[in-house]
Amino acid sequence: MAKHIDVSKIKADYILISHAHSDHTADVEFIAKNTGAKIISNFEIVSYYEAKGFHGHPMNFGGKWNFDFGVVKYVQALHSSSFGDGTYGGEPGGFIITSNGKTVYYAGDTALFSDMQLFGRLHAINWAILPVGDNFTMDAQQAAVASSMLNCDKVIGVHYDTFGFIKIDHEASKQLFAVEGKELHLVPIGNSLNLE
Ligand code: NI
Repeated sequence: MAKHIDVSKIKADYILISHAHSDHTADVEFIAKNTGAKIISNFEIVSYYEAKGFHGHPMNFGGKWNFDFGVVKYVQALHSSSFGDGTYGGEPGGFIITSNGKTVYYAGDTALFSDMQLFGRLHAINWAILPVGDNFTMDAQQAAVASSMLNCDKVIGVHYDTFGFIKIDHEASKQLFAVEGKELHLVPIGNSLNLE
């Protein structure tokens, strides 16, 4: 579904990696080599890439760091994290990113978990990027509950439709959010969204 994306044209100063699964890391080395981008992830993933000569910034759960674009906190996720070759990729995580006065929570691949309430208490989250595809992660119904716990009205759905187990009904998924007074945005691959 992303075959029309020319990876060599992707510009990046930083690459944030939630976990090591190959659908999240397949193009990391190519993009990092092409752009010189710094890799931000957990200690194990950053160590894996540093051993191959890439630059990284290691983090672990609950910790934050001031980068030149804003503050990044690395938080837990309920999932797994191994590289395609079986190498241990640490524990899976997500990121709470504050930049230009806006805060975005990228959950990574995860199940619903009640500590999301704490993220909503500690951060004024403007946008949440949540998985909605079911089978490997939470579904849209659980993502709607997550958005309530996060106290966040604007959600970008991810991790759906790209392979067989995670096809979703777009309109039904959006409706689950609409009844809660929230917005679910399902952005087509290659499109962009201005986070106002
Ligand atoms: Ni995954």
